Amino acid sequence: TGALRGVVALDGPSGTGKTTVARKLAAKLGAGYLDTGAMYRVVTLAVLDAGVDPHDTDAVVALARSVRLDVATDPGRPEARLDGTDVGEAIRTPRVDAAVSAVSAVPEVRDLLVQRQRTLIEEASRDEGGIVVDGRDIGTVVAPDAPLKVFLTAAPEVRAARRGAQDTAAGRESNQATVLASVERRDRLDSSRAASPLRPADDAVEFDTSELSIEQVLVALTELAGTRGLLG
Ligand code: DC
Repeated sequence: TGALRGVVALDGPSGTGKTTVARKLAAKLGAGYLDTGAMYRVVTLAVLDAGVDPHDTDAVVALARSVRLDVATDPGRPEARLDGTDVGEAIRTPRVDAAVSAVSAVPEVRDLLVQRQRTLIEEASRDEGGIVVDGRDIGTVVAPDAPLKVFLTAAPEVRAARRGAQDTAAGRESNQATVLASVERRDRLDSSRAASPLRPADDAVEFDTSELSIEQVLVALTELAGTRGLLG
């Protein structure tokens, strides 16, 4: 397998295996990896830490403009920093899960982060040759010219079970019914918002991962990248 050239847009709701697949694909193909969800999570953490109401749009926008947000695009070590502090763990708590949809629905926050994402994608394309970008609106908004767009789905129960397993593995308490409710609530909010809702691009390849292992999805995506002539 050669190295990836170009951008792979990987979109879909949480619990589809998207983040794991994106990281592994990037590592396997010698490419960069960008977790755009982490960027919305960092802004959300800043909002909560500052005691700002996630629904107070003006305050959220002001805060998003004032904080320093850094993300690394190394698939082996994806880092997220808020004003210089590593917040990799702090952004994956139920408190951030519950508020991130409100923050990511604000158009000015999206504009700000989409600009940053496009710069990071350009830099990685130049330095690494290719990048796998993980998000909700990569194929539709952030990188509409990406030569490969993939949209992963899975049944809600499967996605909740995967999220629950992640929580348990990370040593967090997890209740299946609560996780399912949280996953369904976030999908509903992310898909119904006015600004860049979660939806597949017209030219995205859709994969239902309910019955597929991570390994099977990886093999399928590598083949697809090869067919598209993206592996040098
Ligand atoms: O992928 P994730 O669960 O870490 O994403 C967290 C939230 O961020 C998700 O509920 C919606 C939002 N998000 C977004 O609006 N656009 C993106 N490109 C990525 C994430």
